[in-house]
Amino acid sequence: MRDRDHQQAFGIQHPIVLAPLAGGPSTPELVAAVSNAGGLGSLGAAYMTPSAIRDAIATIRRLTDRPFAINLFVPEPAAPDASRLAEVQSRLSAYRAELGLPEPRLPDPLVIPFEDQLAAIVEAKVSMCSFTFGVPAAEVVRALRQAGSLVVGTATHVEEACVLERAGVDAIVAQGGEAGGHRGTFLGRADDALIGTMALVPQVVDAVRVPVIAAGGIMDGRGIVAALALGACAAQLGTAFLCCDETGTDEAYRRSLVESHDNSSTITRAFSGRAARGLRNRFVDDWETFEPAPFPLQNVLTADIRAAARRAGRPELVNLWAGQGSPKVRRMPAAELMRALVDEMAAARRNAG
Ligand SMILES: Cc1cc2nc3c(=O)[nH]c(=O)nc-3n(C[C@H](O)[C@H](O)[C@H](O)COP(=O)(O)O)c2cc1C
Repeated sequence: MRDRDHQQAFGIQHPIVLAPLAGGPSTPELVAAVSNAGGLGSLGAAYMTPSAIRDAIATIRRLTDRPFAINLFVPEPAAPDASRLAEVQSRLSAYRAELGLPEPRLPDPLVIPFEDQLAAIVEAKVSMCSFTFGVPAAEVVRALRQAGSLVVGTATHVEEACVLERAGVDAIVAQGGEAGGHRGTFLGRADDALIGTMALVPQVVDAVRVPVIAAGGIMDGRGIVAALALGACAAQLGTAFLCCDETGTDEAYRRSLVESHDNSSTITRAFSGRAARGLRNRFVDDWETFEPAPFPLQNVLTADIRAAARRAGRPELVNLWAGQGSPKVRRMPAAELMRALVDEMAAARRNAG
């Protein structure tokens, strides 16, 4: 077990990384609470404007002087074909009618430019910038390095990890198939890249020289100790933090997580066009046999429906991202969860000895 690697690599006391949770759950308060408790807080900034990113970083810095990370999606070209778009829009109209929503106008540009988001992060000189959905370009890695930021990539199989290492990242998140939220897969089909965390982590650890952070299905100290035993230098937990007081999840989402079972989640492209793990609900079922628009178009097209359903307390039409460990989620302040995780790690080590 490379027990002290996390201190050396990331300057943190405990080998616990808060997953970036883009789309609402991520808040500066949650990030700061985890960092203050000796973990590494991460802010999911992929859907944020550059000025919102700047403001969030300023708030995090008011709340903590510890290291934290900012996360972005490596951009993918969207190819919206007009006839596909019309088919998807017509299917979405039924939900809009049900929710009393007008037909939306697509934003222009469709997504916030990555270069502008990155510029805000480079300017802020944060301790770490992590990425998912691809390989950060050489000039991106260079700019972040010059700003003093560690660069982290996400891999869902060994080949992706090797490609990321060759691109010069400082560490790799090995995202197992149990993980909640979007799959990071960028080589091959997402369906072929659902390798369980237990199988994935040692294979990635053996294939690369950079530190590996294990992610997917880790909900307590036992899971963290298991990840370290497999050679990871830290564990990244997302779902475990979704019901913390500081997290931006609404009550209906929290209730769905608390009431979920080990088999409640599934992989779906219904909400965003990209494979993601979330709790099965009516929207997921409706799109089982219908092809969504590609990411990020589907994400933009469904945004008003998801937001209205959230406001109306109707989780059946909302993306309820969750990993397979969701029944183990705990409602408590993040500092308390961090304390519990650290205590459980000590107990798990005693039991393992
Ligand atoms: C609500 C939610 C949002 C997520 N958003 C991001 C994100 O913005 N960027 C990212 O790299 N990973 C994101 N993830 C995936 C996490 O980084 C991580 O792989 C996952 O949470 C680990 O599995 P677990 O949820 O079982 O702990 C998200 C996960 C969840 C549950």
